[in-house]
Amino acid sequence: HAEKFAVLERKNQEALLGGGQTRIEAQHKKGKLTARERIQLLIDQGSFEEIGKFVMHRTKDFGLDKEYYLGDGVVTGYGTIQGRLVYVYAQDFTVFGGALSETHAEKICRIMDLAMKNGAPVIGLNDSGGARIQEGVISLAGYAEIFYRNTLASGVIPQISAIMGPCAGGAVYSPAITDFIMMVENTSYMFVTGPNVVKTVTHENVTAEELGGASTHSIKSGVTHFACANEVECIQSIKKLLSYIPQNCEDDAPRVAYEANQDESRSALNGIVPENPNQPYDMREVIEGVIDTDSFFEVHRNFAENIVVGFARLGGRSIGIVGNQPAVLAGVLDIHASTKAARFVRFCDSFNIPLLVFEDVPGFMPGTDQEWNGIITNGAKLLYAFCEATVPRITVITRKAYGGAYDVMNSKHIGADMNYAWPTAEIAVMGAKGAAEIIFKREIAESADPEAKLQEKVTEYTNKFANPYRAAHRGYIDEVILPEQTRQKLLKAFQMLENKVDSLPKKKHGNIPL
Ligand code: COA
Repeated sequence: HAEKFAVLERKNQEALLGGGQTRIEAQHKKGKLTARERIQLLIDQGSFEEIGKFVMHRTKDFGLDKEYYLGDGVVTGYGTIQGRLVYVYAQDFTVFGGALSETHAEKICRIMDLAMKNGAPVIGLNDSGGARIQEGVISLAGYAEIFYRNTLASGVIPQISAIMGPCAGGAVYSPAITDFIMMVENTSYMFVTGPNVVKTVTHENVTAEELGGASTHSIKSGVTHFACANEVECIQSIKKLLSYIPQNCEDDAPRVAYEANQDESRSALNGIVPENPNQPYDMREVIEGVIDTDSFFEVHRNFAENIVVGFARLGGRSIGIVGNQPAVLAGVLDIHASTKAARFVRFCDSFNIPLLVFEDVPGFMPGTDQEWNGIITNGAKLLYAFCEATVPRITVITRKAYGGAYDVMNSKHIGADMNYAWPTAEIAVMGAKGAAEIIFKREIAESADPEAKLQEKVTEYTNKFANPYRAAHRGYIDEVILPEQTRQKLLKAFQMLENKVDSLPKKKHGNIPL
């Protein structure tokens, strides 16, 4: 059979070349890797098994009956990352610019279906000129088949999208539905319409990078969760992210070894909150001080920086952290902070990752901009997300817990399992000055020395409410603890909650305020 075997070998070689050597070189010149090179970096060495290597398109129009490439512009298959099964597709820009055809879509759907049946993550490496223009609506149907599967898979298996080239038009909606998006600085962009259409419709002059590059989407829109300096960093981030999350919604996240019975006291935590309650500090210092060394993996680092979210490990176990950030806008909750945190909370709850909240929040952001853009609806998303989360949930109030934001930030009343407060906590309807100005308005106005009267009333209110004890007397706070005890307390509490079982009332699905 030497002849037949040789045919197979030739075909295998041909498939590896995608759109050909010239186009591979053009791809490299742009600072981009090819689809196969990306897969090699991503998947454990030797573990990749390709599916549909010889698939070809079925289009006859516009001369495509004379132009065929084995694989049709996407490499699909399965393999392992750190020994765990994943499914992957990588669009090949060297074949019709990675444009999506009927068969290209079928290949992606095939691995998504396998991933759903076998309960493992899907990773999409996107690099595509969009719908295969020569195919028309057939290509659009292919996109829709993918979107539909993305939605059905949401909350069942983790879905990660890396954008490593163009991703425009309808193509953006698959990544948008997936759990996490990564983009690469300067070589990737996402937009529903490109700069030319923008110019025609809105008369704006904008480059592709400004309109939809990694910086834009990581800072301004929040569309991407990670902006990576280059493709290698992007692929490393995917692997790191996977190390914190389970294979599917019925699985638990992997644990790393952790030696119990060490000294878990962390005295450095005692000095973080400043004496003056109006002074900022970096909540990341608190987070880093509590969790396992160097285990924080921040998500959405540059977007809505007034709230910090990310994965970490505590005693070797994966947890999701949400922390108000007093160093930015005093840690106030605004629209972007609320939606950022809400989405993170829902991801963690979908995939059995316990939630830890660090709270120092002066309330919701006032003003016409926020009100007219719907801080009410958007703030409600975070409230709703916490309310419906059934994973173990613990809050540590480090300083301010004011007003409605106290309720929202994982209070006991909305289902948190444990709430701790530091002695520096102030759990009240608002800050002492604002409160005194309202409730003692007349007394202050009628006083011979209004300034002194205000001060007196501020002190009175501060003494009464600017502490954690009113809440502790009621049992809203389970324990007031020294900052240095926090790690120890959390290790024990999360262990106590390890087998928590909780469920929501039977329903088709809730109606989160969108
Ligand atoms: N359908 C079919 N082929 C496409 C394609 C598409 N949507 N997008 C790109 N291609 C092909 C190009 O014809 C070219 O083929 P060639 O290698 O045989 O010359 C190849 O992919 C590379 O495209 P090119 O334009 O040379 O690359 P670029 O890096 O300069 O630009 C894009 C990339 C994506 C900006 C550009 O190709 C583009 O605008 N494509 C159309 C995007 C679009 O409107 N898609 C439909 C809406 S969803």
